[in-house]
Amino acid sequence: MTTPYDVAYAESIHHPEEFWARAAEECHWYKKWDKVLDDSNKPFYRWFVGGELNTCYNALDLHVDSGRGDQPAVIYDSPVTDTIKIYTYLELRDEVARLAGVLRDQGVTKGDRVIIYMPMIPQALMAMLACARIGAIHSVVFGGFAANELATRINDATPKVIVSASCGIEGAKIIPYKPLLDKAIEMAAFKPQSCIIFQRSMEKAQLIQGRDLDWDQAMAGASPADCVPVAATDPLYILYTSGTTGQPKGVVRDNGGHLVALKWTMKAIYDIDPGDVFWAASDVGWVVGHSYIVYAPLFKGATSVLFEGKPVGTPDAGVFWRIISQHKVKSQFTAPTAFRAIKREDPNGDLIKNYDLSSLKILFLAGERSDPDTIQWSERNLKVPVIDHWWQTETGWAIAANCMGLHRFPVKYGSPTKAVPGWNLLAVDPGTKPVPAGETGALVVKLPLPPGALTTLWQNDARFLEAYMEEFPGYYKTADAGYIDAENYVYVMARTDDIINVAGHRLSTGAMEEVLSDHPDVAECAVLGVEDQLKGQVPIGFLVLKAGVKRPNEDIIKEVIAMVRDRIGPVAAFKTATVVKRLPKTRSGKILRGTIQKIADNKTYKVPATIDDPETLNEMKQALTGLGYAGSTSAS
Ligand code: COA
Ligand code: AMP
Repeated sequence: MTTPYDVAYAESIHHPEEFWARAAEECHWYKKWDKVLDDSNKPFYRWFVGGELNTCYNALDLHVDSGRGDQPAVIYDSPVTDTIKIYTYLELRDEVARLAGVLRDQGVTKGDRVIIYMPMIPQALMAMLACARIGAIHSVVFGGFAANELATRINDATPKVIVSASCGIEGAKIIPYKPLLDKAIEMAAFKPQSCIIFQRSMEKAQLIQGRDLDWDQAMAGASPADCVPVAATDPLYILYTSGTTGQPKGVVRDNGGHLVALKWTMKAIYDIDPGDVFWAASDVGWVVGHSYIVYAPLFKGATSVLFEGKPVGTPDAGVFWRIISQHKVKSQFTAPTAFRAIKREDPNGDLIKNYDLSSLKILFLAGERSDPDTIQWSERNLKVPVIDHWWQTETGWAIAANCMGLHRFPVKYGSPTKAVPGWNLLAVDPGTKPVPAGETGALVVKLPLPPGALTTLWQNDARFLEAYMEEFPGYYKTADAGYIDAENYVYVMARTDDIINVAGHRLSTGAMEEVLSDHPDVAECAVLGVEDQLKGQVPIGFLVLKAGVKRPNEDIIKEVIAMVRDRIGPVAAFKTATVVKRLPKTRSGKILRGTIQKIADNKTYKVPATIDDPETLNEMKQALTGLGYAGSTSAS
């Protein structure tokens, strides 16, 4: 049987220009495009060349102008401050227009960068949309990163203005943001002209005269700014994501392709129509937050829930159900780790029974591999389809999913179902030859990438080419390995680089190693992601100390843990390290990460033929057992 999904998929691959031009007709353009796809400078493909639009107009004004002004655009639900506040499209448009006026008064114009370092409050979303309104490029930095990471992003993005808030709230803790911001600006070589600070009632920040502006005062004195038409190919935002080194990659997304693709996905993937309530329980600092808390639901004219809280502890493991029932959420999207946290506290789903969840039609999971146990627990307790889907910061939207607005395929546990229209996905061998169905290979996407995918890395075309385009010429390298079965179901098994996924947060072990090796007593180190029941993976560090170091190992371990927290941030969740005599290596000196990982995860492993000294594996096994890992694994 040919399904609507099959028709859409085939057209998107064989006639992408027709397919995406039709989707673009659903959007507002000041000037239509001259060419849907410009492939004159491969692999730098450009979508909707010659077109002019405004992203903020499409997210807000369009709905006000077409009679949706009184509909809720955003529901801010913050159990940590005991606040629920609803913004209609009209109210949000007016706030955003005024904030855009504040930015304009600070001299921000088209193409200028604005860094947004904020907790999960409506002002974060307003700041993003205000930038889009005047054609400025925003770069949101996740609140869980340390000052050093923020400084790195300030140096790379060179923002004219930084928008921040006095504090974030993490469960019961208040995290003052302003000292982190001040420290980051002090550390950075580049200095912004001004900072706009939203003062929250629970923590007042000290403002620096001449540099910092109080949000409320600035808003009171500003007049609204109109939407500025920008080229479809102009950048909308930069979002930094972990690469293989401490220097993050600045993923650049354009205005036109992003609008067209994201608006299309709301129905095709999530089955959301205008007026429906959609809730992505993520953070605006991550791509999921950009795409599905802010942009896509608003492009579609839906209502987006902005949640400031945690799945457990704010106040309990029933908060998700309270929000779904109270705001009549139709689809929820979160990371499996959030459901693992709930499942751990409420294994039988007793709290679910206290709420009417009849509005909920589908649960979407992404951000890390969904373990079948979590999917089945959710299916059993929520009695709705639970849809795993796979994507990346770089892609901006799902590469593989069960496209619920097109056709619902039977779920195969462990698979995010099939490639989404637009993504010509293959599993290939190192020579870029497709591997047979069911065999593991590198997951790659044949170029061109669909609209909305990254266009380059900020001011670093060379790194863009090297990281994504060179290993498999003509294809985008996802850096995920997996297989595609005979029915075209995709299975994403592991990263092929040193990225790990901790509680749905993407982190680089390479970046952590850079921090550890800066410790004066450390000669050599390795950081690996090992399996964790709650967070999916957690990092653990192995330290080889310099000859002659006499200090107690425990002190050095404490110090490196503090260094990672201080330099990368609490989000790294780096809490375990151990001292080993040496690291298992090949004869050519490469650390045997895969083998160490297998031992840690209690999987059968092979002693590689190229190993320099097999005894090092036994030493490693002992170290891991000491940390509570490894268990009873043995070499096959
Ligand atoms: N600002 C400041 N600190 C932050 C932060 C933020 N925005 N986000 C996280 N942190 C801190 C936490 O307070 C914690 O600090 P601690 O070491 O002092 O306890 C640390 O970073 C690790 O945070 P996290 O990984 O979130 O662990 P947790 O134990 O607080 O919570 C979960 C565990 C599973 C409940 C939580 O990770 C979760 O809800 N995950 C869903 C992830 C998600 O939405 N991912 C987006 C992709 S869809
Ligand atoms: P991020 O860029 O933070 O969204 O992280 C992207 C990475 O997370 C991917 O490259 C995968 O390794 C992993 N990932 C995201 N979603 C899934 C999923 N549904 N299944 C398996 N891995 C996933």
